[in-house]
Amino acid sequence: MKVIVTKSYEESCRIAADMIRDEVAQNPATKLGLATGSTPIPVYYHLVEMFQKGEVDFSEVHTVNLDEYWGLSPDHPQSYHYFMQENLFSHINLNPQNTYVPKGTGDAAQNTAELTQKVYEGGVPSIQLLGIGANGHLGFNEAGPTLVANAHMQALTQSTIDANSRFFEAKDKVPTLAITMGMREILAAKTPLLIATGAAKAQAMHGLLVGDEITTQNPSTFLKLHTGTVVIIDEELAIMSGAK
Ligand code: PGA
Repeated sequence: MKVIVTKSYEESCRIAADMIRDEVAQNPATKLGLATGSTPIPVYYHLVEMFQKGEVDFSEVHTVNLDEYWGLSPDHPQSYHYFMQENLFSHINLNPQNTYVPKGTGDAAQNTAELTQKVYEGGVPSIQLLGIGANGHLGFNEAGPTLVANAHMQALTQSTIDANSRFFEAKDKVPTLAITMGMREILAAKTPLLIATGAAKAQAMHGLLVGDEITTQNPSTFLKLHTGTVVIIDEELAIMSGAK
């Protein structure tokens, strides 16, 4: 696991965008694993800017997203389909047929099987962009007594519902279920790339960066098992989490 400590969250996002640009330059038909949440938004902003300047071409790139709320249609403003359109897809030259966001409506078994297939078909993601939940979740693999290996339906924990309620009119509007890649699919990527910022992530990042423990109570700790993992953390959070 490689840990990059930056001066600021802005720098963290710039470095992540540069890594993605370099990967696409080397492998124009690469598959990228993408994430939603507030953390990666500046990464997408940088990628759009690079595209506009002609520094990166996404025409052959494939993408697969980590997760989607269950019960939200693609046009729901809080759906991750909508998020990806707004923050990335509609601004760059990805072929829509080469993008895949898990389906939040319809047949759950079919949708989870399709997500698994999209992770592996034609080769696994080169870079899997990741945020982290306050409880250490990756995608919607929530902290708890067990984790699930493959794509599945996941009940959200109260801490995740509380954290995500900021995006909804009211707490009771936050979906309680999500479809998510499992830990196996996340760890299939050649480079799981985690960006973390903010005091709310200090405890989870302590578990990931300090010591050697792996626990389902902090799913991010499983990233320790992958030699390709890259963690980008700003100095402020590195200090708060005891990693620096
Ligand atoms: P955030 O969410 O980037 O909005 O903090 C990350 C996550 O819950 O995985």
